[in-house]
Amino acid sequence: MTDRTVQPARGPLRGSMPVPGDKSVSHRAVLFAAMAEGVSRLSGVLDAADVRSSVKAVRALGAKVEVAAHDDGLEVTVEGWGGAGPREPGAPIDCGNSGTTARLLMGILAGWPGRTFTLAGDASLSTRPMRRVLDPLALMGAETDGAAVTLPVTIRGAALRGIDYTLPVASAQVKSAVLLAGLRASGETVVREPVPSRDHTERLLPAFGVDVSCSPPPRACAVAGGSIPRAAEVTVPGDPSSAAFLVGAALLVPDSAVAIPGVDLNPTRTGFLRVLERMGAGLLVRPAAMAGAEPVGDVVASFRALEATTVTPDEVPSLIDEVPLLAVVATQAFGTTRFEGVGELRVKESDRLRALVEALESLGAEVRSGDDWLEVTGPARLHGAWLDSHGDHRLAMAYGVAALAADSPLTISGYDAIAVSYPGFCEALDALMVS
Ligand code: S3P
Repeated sequence: MTDRTVQPARGPLRGSMPVPGDKSVSHRAVLFAAMAEGVSRLSGVLDAADVRSSVKAVRALGAKVEVAAHDDGLEVTVEGWGGAGPREPGAPIDCGNSGTTARLLMGILAGWPGRTFTLAGDASLSTRPMRRVLDPLALMGAETDGAAVTLPVTIRGAALRGIDYTLPVASAQVKSAVLLAGLRASGETVVREPVPSRDHTERLLPAFGVDVSCSPPPRACAVAGGSIPRAAEVTVPGDPSSAAFLVGAALLVPDSAVAIPGVDLNPTRTGFLRVLERMGAGLLVRPAAMAGAEPVGDVVASFRALEATTVTPDEVPSLIDEVPLLAVVATQAFGTTRFEGVGELRVKESDRLRALVEALESLGAEVRSGDDWLEVTGPARLHGAWLDSHGDHRLAMAYGVAALAADSPLTISGYDAIAVSYPGFCEALDALMVS
C-alpha cells in the first residue's frame, strides 16, 4: 500500500476532461458477452482493476477474450460460451476487489446443473455480505454453501425455477444476480424493488437479445427462463461516479470551471448531481445522445458558494457511491448537511461511514453519525492530516479532493486503491490545475 501526499490546489481547475468508461456498464458488458452465443465487440470499456477481475473470471470460465488498450478505454472482443455454458475452472475464480463480479457471477453460474464453481475475493471482498444474493438463489433451487455468509462461496449448478422476489435492500447487484439466474430458470422470474437501484442490467440485456419487461416505480422487472443472450456491440459511456470527483474538485476550489464530456446521465446514477444542484452548485448538465441504452451528455461544474441540504433515504441508491465525495463537499457548505438511510455504506469496500467520520474529524470538520445517518456541518477550515483510505478507491479519491481545499498537505495511505476504478485520477486533476 502506497502513501501519497496531496498538496492543496495551487490554482483553479479549468478545462475539459473526459472520464473513463462506466464501471457498472463495463462489468455487465463483459459478463453478458461471456454468456452470449457469438462474438461481441465492446468499446470504451473501463481499464481498471475491477473490470480486469471480470475479464479474468470469464476467461477462466471458458469465454475467449481479447483486449486492446486505447486512449478512450479498452476494446474487448468476447466469444461467449452461449448454449454450451461456462466450463468448470480448475481453481477458485478470483473476483479481486469486485463485488459486482462476484455477485453477478453467482446468478450467472447457479443454473448449470452438474457444474461446480467456487468464487473468492481479496481481503475486503471476503468480508462483504453474500447472503443477500445466496438467499434468493436458494429460493430458485440453487445449491450453494448453506452456511456461507461471505466469500469464498461454492455454487453447485442446479435446475432453477423462476421466483417473484422483493428486494429487502435496494441493490442493483442482487437484482441483477436474480434476473440473470432467471434466464436459466423455468417460467418467469420477477424482481421487485421498493426504491429503484441502478438499472444497467435491464437496459443492457435487450441489446443482447434478451427481453426484460419493467413496470414504472415501484419497479418490477421480469425475464423469461430459457433465454440465451446473443452477441452484441456495446459502447460504454463515461462513468458518472468518476466524474463526481472532478465535479467535487471544481466545486471546492475557487474560480474553477471544469467540463466533463460523454458522461452517463442515467437518472439511477446521477442523484449526486440533483443533490449538488439543491446545494446551489454551479452545474450545467447537457444531455446529448444515447450510447446504446444509456443517455449520455456533458457536465460542467463551476465554483460557487454552497448551502447544506438533506439527502433522503429514497435518494440514496442513486448516489450510493458518491456519499464520500458529497460528505467532503458538505464540509464547505453553509449549514448542516444530513445523509439519511446510508447504512449500506458500512458494507461497501470498507465501512465507509465509520471511515468518513474519522477522516473528516481529522481534517477539522464537524461531523456526527448514527447507525445509518451522517451529518456534516460547514463551512470548515480543513487542515492537513494523515488519512487511511482503508484500501477503498472511493475514499482515497474523496480524500484527494478534500486535500485540494485544505490549507496544508494531506497524506493518504493506500492511495493506489484508485486503480480499482479510476487509475488516471491524479493525472486528470493535475492536467486541470492552472498553476
Ligand atoms: C453496483 C451496485 C451498487 C454499487 C456498486 C456497483 C453495480 O452496489 O455500490 O459500486 O454495478 O450493480 P449494491 O448493489 O450493493 O448497492
